Amino acid sequence: MRNLILKYLVYFMNPVRWLRALRRPADALRIISKVLTCPRLFMIAQNVEGLISVACGLALYDSVLKTDSVSLNIIEVGAFKGKSTCYLSLAAEETGKQVKSFELFTGLPEADSSLDPSFQAGQFAGSVSEYEHNVKTFGCRSKVDLIIGDARNTLLPAIGDKGFAVAFLDADVYVVMKEIVRQLLTKAEGGEIIIVHDINSPGVKKAIGEFRQVLFEQFISGFGVNEFAVFDVIYKDTVEKII
Ligand SMILES: C[S@@+](CC[C@H](N)C(=O)[O-])C[C@H]1O[C@@H](n2cnc3c(N)ncnc32)[C@H](O)[C@@H]1O
Repeated sequence: MRNLILKYLVYFMNPVRWLRALRRPADALRIISKVLTCPRLFMIAQNVEGLISVACGLALYDSVLKTDSVSLNIIEVGAFKGKSTCYLSLAAEETGKQVKSFELFTGLPEADSSLDPSFQAGQFAGSVSEYEHNVKTFGCRSKVDLIIGDARNTLLPAIGDKGFAVAFLDADVYVVMKEIVRQLLTKAEGGEIIIVHDINSPGVKKAIGEFRQVLFEQFISGFGVNEFAVFDVIYKDTVEKII
């Protein structure tokens, strides 16, 4: 308990955090109330190394709580050390859903350096044991199926005919993101939530731009589903949410 209070003090005494909060007071208030009332979510932010912000972690958690989809599948592509997995799995525990977590552990695959200038092959290589430790300690391990390998080959068989309710895509590079959203679209029935990380990275931006074009064409040709074409930005700098 003393440890938790100390961590709260360190977290709230950070002046950079308060400056950021002033820029988006409504988001900041929501985050503050959530981290104070859900210590388990706060502990993930404090203890698990990863690439997502608290705001993003809470957006993942909330999306699973709020989805109307009856599908039990929550998809995560790009887990690294399991930070996003922890947030998703705690929400899965509350809703009876199951996270399907896809990760290579060998780091990013070969990418086009002009499209993905900030990323190199092999970057973010991680270990299964560190992932397991984090998800067991800070998430809910029984609510996660870890699928090791290239998600471009493993995603569709893992989803099967069960669809998906929420997908969190954090694979960083164009070639992977483009293929994953293409495959997800074949399983979508309308109303699914897709959350994309690093949306300002050129490769991710291009993949999602092309995906949006496909959605739009399907919509105007009468094949698409209305809800899936609705687009909404929640955390502008890093995360986009496509309903
Ligand atoms: C930025 S990290 C993910 C960060 C993580 N979501 C977090 O919460 O910290 C990107 C991850 O995507 C994984 N990745 C990239 N392409 C992949 C693919 N085709 N299949 C599975 N994982 C992939 C990489 O191995 C890397 O660990």
